[in-house]
Amino acid sequence: MTTDRNTLRATLRKNFPRSRGQLLPALHFLHEEFGYLPDWAMEVTGWHLGIPVSEVYGAATSYTELRVEKPGRHVVRVCTGLSCWLSGGSEILDRLQTQLKIKAPGTTPDNNVTLEEASCAFMCGMAPVVELDGGYTGRATPESVESLIPQAADA
Ligand code: FES
Repeated sequence: MTTDRNTLRATLRKNFPRSRGQLLPALHFLHEEFGYLPDWAMEVTGWHLGIPVSEVYGAATSYTELRVEKPGRHVVRVCTGLSCWLSGGSEILDRLQTQLKIKAPGTTPDNNVTLEEASCAFMCGMAPVVELDGGYTGRATPESVESLIPQAADA
């Protein structure tokens, strides 16, 4: 795992040629590595690719799948794409926001659960879909999802 500027610089040099076209692949790499995009890592990436940090940050915040703040211990993402929205995704999101007492995107004060909306997970036939720590639950209901959260909070 990349933990400091020098290691990240070496990793970027090895895997990403200095080209503007490498920005998005590099951001996805960082997101995979850290679970979000730390400011310092975006700075290093900008220096490596020759792109102003403001532009790196602008790109990072343009994609809903890229997170720029450190998430809680567990991440719950509710798909609100068209099929899921029509099948009750927004009711599930409302229920979780009430249960967790936060508004998506947001993290509980104890930093245990981050709740986010997600665009289509390409599992529309199983709508509505909820993702918990990278695992998907299809045909979710507000009741079934509510019972997932204490498990996440206790894990
Ligand atoms: S809209 Fe939710 S999986 Fe496609």
